[in-house]
Amino acid sequence: QTLDQCSGRNRFDCYPEKTNPPVQDCKARGCCLTRIHGDKGTQSCHYPLDYDGYRVVSLSPLKQVNATVGWNVTMTRTSSSPYPKDIKTLQLLVLYETTYRLRFKIFDPAVQRYEVPVDLHDQDSPTPEELTDFHVIFEKDPFSISIVRKSDAQPLFDSKGMAPLIFADQYIQIGSRLASPLLYGLGEHRSRLALDVKGRQKLVFWNRDQPPEENLNLYGTHPFYLNLEADNRTAHGVFLLNSNAMQVELQPLNNQGPETGSITYRVLGGILDFFVFSGPSSEDVVRQYVSLIGQSFMPPFWSLGFHLCKHGYGNSSEFWKVIQRNREAKMPYDVQWNDLDYSAGNKIWTWDNETYRGLPEIIKDLHDHGQHNVIIVDPGISSSQPKGTYPPFDEGLELGLFVKDASGKPFIGKVWPGDTAFVDFFHHKTFDYWLKFIGLFHGVLPFDGLWIDMNEPSNFINGSVNGCTNSSLDHPPFVPPGIDGGTMYSRTVCPSAQHQQSSHYNLHNLYGWSETIITSQILRVLSRKRPFVLTRSTAFGSGTYAAHWTGDNLSSFPDLAFSISSILNSNIFGMSMVGADICGFRGNAKRELCIRWMQLGAFYPFMRNHAEGYSAPQDPGWFDSEAQDIMRAALHTRYSLLPYIYTRYYISHTTASPAIRPLFFDFPGTELIDAQFLWGSELLVSPVVQEGARTVKAYIPKGACFFDLDTLTLLGVPGGDWYTLDAPLEKINVHVKGGSILPMLPPAVTTTLARQGKMELLVAPDLISMPVTASGQLFWDDGESIDTVRQMQFTLINFTLNETTLTSDVQAKSYSPVTLGKVTVMAVESAPPKVMLNGQKVNFTYDTKSRVLMVSELTWNLLVPFELTW
Ligand code: GLC
Repeated sequence: QTLDQCSGRNRFDCYPEKTNPPVQDCKARGCCLTRIHGDKGTQSCHYPLDYDGYRVVSLSPLKQVNATVGWNVTMTRTSSSPYPKDIKTLQLLVLYETTYRLRFKIFDPAVQRYEVPVDLHDQDSPTPEELTDFHVIFEKDPFSISIVRKSDAQPLFDSKGMAPLIFADQYIQIGSRLASPLLYGLGEHRSRLALDVKGRQKLVFWNRDQPPEENLNLYGTHPFYLNLEADNRTAHGVFLLNSNAMQVELQPLNNQGPETGSITYRVLGGILDFFVFSGPSSEDVVRQYVSLIGQSFMPPFWSLGFHLCKHGYGNSSEFWKVIQRNREAKMPYDVQWNDLDYSAGNKIWTWDNETYRGLPEIIKDLHDHGQHNVIIVDPGISSSQPKGTYPPFDEGLELGLFVKDASGKPFIGKVWPGDTAFVDFFHHKTFDYWLKFIGLFHGVLPFDGLWIDMNEPSNFINGSVNGCTNSSLDHPPFVPPGIDGGTMYSRTVCPSAQHQQSSHYNLHNLYGWSETIITSQILRVLSRKRPFVLTRSTAFGSGTYAAHWTGDNLSSFPDLAFSISSILNSNIFGMSMVGADICGFRGNAKRELCIRWMQLGAFYPFMRNHAEGYSAPQDPGWFDSEAQDIMRAALHTRYSLLPYIYTRYYISHTTASPAIRPLFFDFPGTELIDAQFLWGSELLVSPVVQEGARTVKAYIPKGACFFDLDTLTLLGVPGGDWYTLDAPLEKINVHVKGGSILPMLPPAVTTTLARQGKMELLVAPDLISMPVTASGQLFWDDGESIDTVRQMQFTLINFTLNETTLTSDVQAKSYSPVTLGKVTVMAVESAPPKVMLNGQKVNFTYDTKSRVLMVSELTWNLLVPFELTW
């Protein structure tokens, strides 16, 4: 290469397999080798500016009636890329799908390649270009595509001048210029919320049973990002619908203009199928993405309560002791879980009725107390039992529905029970098979929900008991460096294994997803109630079916802190119901850590305390009475907020808006904050994430006022800055944003009992804008029936405060009774002479110090609109 062609300011890695490749190997790829400035000895092998790629040979609009609804492009290349089996002719289809969504697919027009078998939502007829927010620009030689937001000419996807397009059978590469280095998403990974473009973060997508650590591929795959633009306020999103292994590399760009960066995708198969979302707000971007992949499921009400779990309680009397001590401690506590030790020899669909003697009766006792039970299930089926003794294996074998090795025999790996076959959830016979065993087992242990674990799928050996093949599926020409374990089959199934629909190479990242859908559908059929499924492995769309937890974290303060980015990311990926193992899974949770984690966990969308077998007990009932008091108080706060939390789930389910969100969604200037988060737009949660801290440095946004949820008093700071807030051990700082009305309930020891209480409203006036206003909503139904939203079997009430009048507006009233017992109004200037409810005087109290007006003793039927004035 000439010096000139190698001297570009922005260098895109031409040898992503390794750093410092041998000179001849780099040259053989037609690339440039340049010494990295300031770094002695390190050379970068990068593409020259004139690297030969694809040229457009035809370009025509797609027409419907007379309108342009997309583009059809053909391009070819003559030279070879560094990877075998280039596809020399490619087709590109651009489709204007909705005003805010554009799709473009690049594929082989001659041979049908693997495409992701998901049903996308909201796939209506295309939209004429002129009605959309998009404008598309093509360059012909070399090919590039720029997708621009019409209204402000902002490029949203722009491959021009980025890493060259390569489309070989097992290596597909495309790059895009980012609008700014503020980039979010691209999970599942453990990292700060804002990804590190400057630090050239590389992310591998290949689902793996891996305790969350930075820079490693973890349990799920979500190739979606949200990119803020130069104003830090406008946002757009990009989703690559592809389930193959991939690596994404971020890097800064050397520009004259504002700071940007680039993203390079290196994908091991399938096709390029991109969706671009034009926003323009961050929340819009998430809603546009999530309405495509599927909105999050409506959880059963009981699942919003506190869940308790541990691997290896040991036996039923120890298990019973845990239940007893938490009941005696009067902890709000809804769900007691059983990890794998309930089973005989870790075989799923069996119960060890020796060590866990009496388990069905214990579960019945939970039910009698308005509590629930969830059990674990793994996808690996023990294959080493004597024939005729273990029907889940015998029948699966007979039906031929296990994943097969390259020679067509059941693929055998090793998981908890020893040698195991893996259920192929893509097999057409699996639904009935799985339904049968779930149904039969429910007759043995009357569980209320299923926890599907190890579904990456996890394997304790690399590949099968006989290893893997030498084929290019098991050893592709490009193995993303940084893939944990170094190979594609490290601690999982060989990519050459076969599912009924395709190879494991293609479907690996969808394995947990496929199990999730079937399991949720079956629970729905069997119980005729809303299913509750918790899954470890996820992919785009999993949030429509199940809750997720962040896996095997460590009992440590850094893990507590990282959990916030993880749960925020899950919400960005459309998985509203998510939590981390409270107090940490691995290691012993010290008292202070567990207290702080219970406080934070009370604000996780999904609240479960879980630990591994070796860990010391960490259930609230195990601690001393002071620790218990603090944990109970955190649980009381959560239980009192249940109607609000439930309403947020309803909003998320119906509008695709996330349940919890990062601060930057609502407040510019907070793009790097990931130790605080918001519930909806109403609650600002600022937990302590450091050991020993008795204060918390919290960012308080500008342009809003905030009330302390405990004291109900106004936080008297101007905002727009960091403030040191008191956070003694017994306190988590949670603030209600002025302008909100939160529906609440008096706390109780179970959600079942809490639901019997009378509704309460907490009114936080917006004191900044005049007149003083606030608004809120309550969604209420029986908490367990299927499809209450679709069938309009619910009650929905809007509340509005205007100065000193609070009114309700009943939008739907198909569920009753819903009784209002109490209204609490913050920041009331002075004691009102009287308070009237629909013209009738009612009793009230007013606290001059806190300025809180409280109207208790009400019994108002909320299906009837009311007006409360003071
Ligand atoms: C996995 C799960 C963990 C569970 C354990 C035993 O490590 O992530 O939550 O306790 O398996 O079933």
